[in-house]
Amino acid sequence: MQRRSLISAAAAFTAAVALPTWAQTPPALPVLQVWKDPNCGCCQDWVNYMQADGFQVQVFDTGNAAVRKRLGLPDAFGSCHTGLIGGYVIEGHVNAREIRRLLAEKPKAIGLAVPGMPVGSPGMDGPVYGERRDAYDVVLVQADGTGRVYQHYAGNAAGFKRTGTAAEALPMAEAEVRRVDTANGKISLKHGEIKNLDMPPMTMVFQVSDPALLGKVKAGDKVRFTATKVNGAYTVTSIETAP
Ligand code: CU
Ligand code: CU
Repeated sequence: MQRRSLISAAAAFTAAVALPTWAQTPPALPVLQVWKDPNCGCCQDWVNYMQADGFQVQVFDTGNAAVRKRLGLPDAFGSCHTGLIGGYVIEGHVNAREIRRLLAEKPKAIGLAVPGMPVGSPGMDGPVYGERRDAYDVVLVQADGTGRVYQHYAGNAAGFKRTGTAAEALPMAEAEVRRVDTANGKISLKHGEIKNLDMPPMTMVFQVSDPALLGKVKAGDKVRFTATKVNGAYTVTSIETAP
């Protein structure tokens, strides 16, 4: 046997022996610290949910507004409790799945947020809410303080009906699609006046309330749409090609 193949054989042997040792041990999750109000029931429900998912949670019953400020998460993404794990802020009723994904992907970001307290999100899904589940987004709060959709969760029929009613109340605006950015969940529109936003005609980039909206149109299309401000970001809530 040549020296080179001896070395590679030795390396292969080491790898074969070493593999099961770390493969059997799942990577340790950092401790999740959570700041919340002691009287917040849905906060405790979320803590229980995270523990059931395998997270080790350290709770501070001090309220969360001051901690959120200290950790640099913009209030626009605020919710009832604030967490910290592996250097990332976790605001509100965020799904464990996206927290695991965040820790694996390690993006340059402040953290994740589910702004407000949408019904149907983990900890806001108890029997008292009945069958109702509203659509919501897990938002990646980027290093510059802006948010982008990290994961969308669809609601059920009851939730959609509510959303639909709100969308219908918004006046339609007209536009020509300039660019559809599916990767970042954004759309660039050369639009006419948007009455409810008091916005004059211009070309602007919008977020979308549901990534599925981006599949309905393409660059160059003449469209009608509704838009509103969601957590401080201009967001298209419905869009269709103009007749
Ligand atoms: Cu809550
Ligand atoms: Cu909470």
